[in-house]
Amino acid sequence: MSAAKHTREAGERDSASDAPAKPAREHTTIKGGAPAGKTPRSRPANVAAMREAANVRQREHRARVDEVGRHTVYELENPMLRIHVGDCRDVLAKLPEFRRKEVDLVFADPPFNWNRAYDKWDDSMPREDYLKFTREWLDLCVDALRPTGAIWVNIPDDTCAEIVMHLKGRNLAMVNWCIWHYRFGQNTTERFINSKVHALYFARTAASRVWNPREVLEMSDRAAIYADPRTQNKADGMPPGMRVPMDVWYGQFWGRIQGNNAERRANHDNQLPEVYLERVVRACSNEGDLVVDPFTGSGTTPVVAHALKRRFIGSEFSVDNARSAFARIKAGPVRIGKALGASSAIFENRVKSKRRAGSKGIGADAIATTTP
Ligand SMILES: C[S@@+](CC[C@H](N)C(=O)[O-])C[C@H]1O[C@@H](n2cnc3c(N)ncnc32)[C@H](O)[C@@H]1O
Repeated sequence: MSAAKHTREAGERDSASDAPAKPAREHTTIKGGAPAGKTPRSRPANVAAMREAANVRQREHRARVDEVGRHTVYELENPMLRIHVGDCRDVLAKLPEFRRKEVDLVFADPPFNWNRAYDKWDDSMPREDYLKFTREWLDLCVDALRPTGAIWVNIPDDTCAEIVMHLKGRNLAMVNWCIWHYRFGQNTTERFINSKVHALYFARTAASRVWNPREVLEMSDRAAIYADPRTQNKADGMPPGMRVPMDVWYGQFWGRIQGNNAERRANHDNQLPEVYLERVVRACSNEGDLVVDPFTGSGTTPVVAHALKRRFIGSEFSVDNARSAFARIKAGPVRIGKALGASSAIFENRVKSKRRAGSKGIGADAIATTTP
């Protein structure tokens, strides 16, 4: 796949270069102010607030589409957000933030080369070409990381090993090899049903990376299933009954986004759940940090990152996908915060079921067993 060509046209800004920018659209005047040269005699207390609200609306309105040759950029302010339309290898290499190595967190969910019917991207490359493509975008992202930065890659079985080897070869530290267990895999009788994707977490250095465990705690199984009093006084310094999540991720809101799911965006059949990105973004970045997604798709990473006050830069090969992602970001997330602190226990609360079953009820033995 050849990289698309950037050219800059008069009056338009190439956000992928350091070129001086002429605003694509002038600010419009706010209506309702005092006539020019006159001072308003009295100003109701809420005028300032109304003006600020109008300003916010204006900034939203100015979220613009800049044509840069064949490339389009969708932009928002506060916090800064840009989605560049084009091949990520072409787009990311030109970004000043990449040249200055300012990226705090990369989340990448690339095409899997599974012959999916993307509207633009060819998802059936010869294997060697796909691996070359993979190494190229990985290298761009790795090179742009800050010393405290991290990269996550969502990847299935068939290319996971190659990515792990490549990132280790780039001297990144493997922090976690998580599994997203989405449960409802496509049915087959030929082999075991696929129900997972790997979520690889590498950092520039393990010791100095951004890590916010308290932002993503879940209820421990001991607390959720057994109401074990020992969980109320935790030696690890975490709040009572809470733990850092395990490295296999599943539960309510963690399924694939299909059918009439509230998060579903039309025309995307490989959308990740918001709770997945919420966990990654909260745990591995801080407010104001720069988050990058080379494969923006339906916009799950930016909708979460923007809502959590991170800056965001994404690339997306399809202009229709980018437009849809931009609309989604402006509409806001559906499930932010809804899964935080919940239990992912796969057994029911045994204290309750014991009560239900009377004094001879189930669970008495299980309380003595060791579980996480
Ligand atoms: C697996 S989807 C990403 C889904 C996304 N994580 C979400 O939750 O919606 C991959 C996306 O990458 C885009 N894409 C494929 N190749 C690309 C490339 N070289 N540069 C930029 N985007 C690309 C596809 O158009 C598709 O939208």
